[in-house]
Amino acid sequence: MLLKSGGIVILDFGSQTAQLIARRVRAAGVYAALLPYEALYTDAQDAVPDFRGIILSGGPASVYVPQAPQLPGWVLESGVPVLGICYGMQLLAHQLGGKVSPAPDREFGFAELAIWENAGLFEGLLPQERVWMSHGDHVEVPPAGFTSLAKSPGAPYAAMGDPQRGWYAVQFHPEVTHTVHGQVMLHNFVIGLCGAAQTWNPHDFIDASVASVQAQVGEGRVLLGLSGGVDSAVAGALLQKALGDRVVPVFVNHGLMRVGEAEAVVRTFGTDLKLNLHAVDATEEFLSALAGVTDPEEKRQTIGRLFVETFEAAAQHVGAFQWLGQGTIYPDVIESAGTDRPGAQRIKSHHNVGGLPVRMQGRVVEPLRDLFKDEVREVGTALGLPDEIVWRQPFPGPGLAIRCLGEVTWERLETLRRADDIFTSELRIAGLLRNATAQAFAVLLPVKSVGVMGDGRTYEEVVALRAVATDDFMTADWARLPNDLLARVANRIVNEVRGVNRVVYDITSKPPATIEWE
Ligand code: XMP
Repeated sequence: MLLKSGGIVILDFGSQTAQLIARRVRAAGVYAALLPYEALYTDAQDAVPDFRGIILSGGPASVYVPQAPQLPGWVLESGVPVLGICYGMQLLAHQLGGKVSPAPDREFGFAELAIWENAGLFEGLLPQERVWMSHGDHVEVPPAGFTSLAKSPGAPYAAMGDPQRGWYAVQFHPEVTHTVHGQVMLHNFVIGLCGAAQTWNPHDFIDASVASVQAQVGEGRVLLGLSGGVDSAVAGALLQKALGDRVVPVFVNHGLMRVGEAEAVVRTFGTDLKLNLHAVDATEEFLSALAGVTDPEEKRQTIGRLFVETFEAAAQHVGAFQWLGQGTIYPDVIESAGTDRPGAQRIKSHHNVGGLPVRMQGRVVEPLRDLFKDEVREVGTALGLPDEIVWRQPFPGPGLAIRCLGEVTWERLETLRRADDIFTSELRIAGLLRNATAQAFAVLLPVKSVGVMGDGRTYEEVVALRAVATDDFMTADWARLPNDLLARVANRIVNEVRGVNRVVYDITSKPPATIEWE
């Protein structure tokens, strides 16, 4: 395949930022696949035919302890340039006869990098660069053939290289945005030093993907579950381009969506894209099943069970289908692969991967399984989907039920929807919905508080506002929103939403809190 071949292989040694490396390489227009560090040469060739370079990620281990992850033998024999980052650097040093030891001063956070020569990896950069460090070990003696390319206050070999053999290593993390010119360094490596092919772009992806879906499905029909989220929406639009009305999207409205969301799905897919949409309004069934349920796990289980039942019942009415379409994206695939590895921790379970009825196993079409979220959005826009769908923030499967703490009733859902709509509309007007917040929403709390309105005492519900900045949703920081905006939102909510007399702002990061409240 043209798009993937000539790209870059990244081996993951357990780094929190390994996915970011792949995203940065792809931002240079080069396909990058992230593989577990134990991957074989054949795995690498399957993932990226004719790969032009290898990047070794960071990781939590120390290279000199027993059982530390090792460098697979094929990496240095493959003849392509290699870049080791953090643990990847130490691994190269250790394996090639250098010395790695605990650093006298551990470096965490910003460091000033002094670059000896602005060429190769550092082409076009300043003699001093701000980089992000996170290491306890460092390279004390580099292996034969390597010279120092840069130093930092805590690392005499903050970057080293053996240009003859095309092997490079950096102690800092070029993939994180805190390293100011990290993208330039990765671009220099993959384009300048590896000569990787810049063939990864949304338009070519769409053409290639349409052809491969047509080859996979033949004359068959595909049933696709549309959730209203970005991934299934883009998967639906792509499948439609490939198969026309042989894709049948099924949308189950559980009544737990945000303001206007169910209508937007029906309008976009039924009216605008003229898909064969099969929409089921199961609001009554879901709300009846949730009556009296207050425990978060019981809510999730009730919704999950009812969702499968409703979906299967709907599938009976759409005629025979041979394939199931899913909006699985690359992070789902990587995390699910990670869960098979010994010692790897399951971070969250994905309803998209695994758990299929036996009869459908091996009959799944997943056109987005190579894409990151930002790439999915680019493809969605290129396919002509409206911004309101493409830029929709992630929304949990159980919907507003897990943001309506305590009992879920229609009245409480309506209160929550109105408060949420005020918050997100104000953010949108201020231009903060896409940029400053990865996720922003309102939560209705299961407590009442006393207030005063006019001359009277009130005893009403409390709304919490949650807004976070995050790249990967695994960790998150609370968004520093302007005070004026928060004041306006609080004021509007208590004035416009009946039954609410108090608004609070959640200022906890994840961890220790989670993004959602349930
Ligand atoms: P937490 O609350 O665990 O959320 O920090 C991380 C991200 O996952 C979303 N989330 C879910 N998504 N089904 C989903 O499809 C779920 O049950 C679910 N629970 C949380 C959450 O909105 C955030 O983006």
